Amino acid sequence: MSTARHVAIIMDGNGRWAKKRHLPRAEGHRRGVEAVRRIARAARAMGLEALTLYAFSTENWRRSEDEIAALMSLMKRFILSDLDEFAANNVKLRIIGDYKAFPADITKLIEDALARTADNDGTTLAVALNYGSRDEIARAAAKAAAKGAVTAEAIEAELDTAGMPPLDLLIRTSGEVRLSNFLLWQAAYAEMWFTDVLWPDFTTEHLAEALASFGTRERRYGGR
Ligand code: FPP
Repeated sequence: MSTARHVAIIMDGNGRWAKKRHLPRAEGHRRGVEAVRRIARAARAMGLEALTLYAFSTENWRRSEDEIAALMSLMKRFILSDLDEFAANNVKLRIIGDYKAFPADITKLIEDALARTADNDGTTLAVALNYGSRDEIARAAAKAAAKGAVTAEAIEAELDTAGMPPLDLLIRTSGEVRLSNFLLWQAAYAEMWFTDVLWPDFTTEHLAEALASFGTRERRYGGR
């Protein structure tokens, strides 16, 4: 029975959750943030070393201006409302992706949040913002090349996730079965867990179920 150290989640289905209830998409995202809060707390309670959440992809800029504005506003409010709790509970925040493309007020909030939790050594909560895995790998390879060695180890050391535990389990909600440019390199040996549950409905019990399933799988890393 193995225990997962690092879990990542593609939080999908906020829009469909809202549509089913004839609510605006933004309401689905608002309920999605509640799920983020719930699952971040659970990850800490369960002793996970790292939880990585796909909050905004490089492709999400193609959504309507209104929806992008709603997501930005939710992220801002989330940092303002939850940062004290993270700081008090030894959670270390981390961002993967190029968050500097976000509006200046959010960038500033993010940097303050990163600085405030930098010395924490409990669960790492990594949030993927303006993140795309191909872009991450290309940036990492360029950095490795500039240092003179384009080996797998050298690239890995330059990824946005450098220093985090290896990815054990990747979860995607809402019934889609694809990676959508998320953690392509890191997922090389990760176990996958897909569920039809829409992200706003994802509970601590679902996370526990995914972790239990992970615990029963035999990982061979290509060996026998
Ligand atoms: C996918 O649902 C979800 C997103 C693109 C955004 C995820 C963001 C959050 C849960 C809120 C912000 C996060 C933090 C960390 C505060 P979708 O809109 O693609 O759903 P659909 O496929 O059903 O339309």
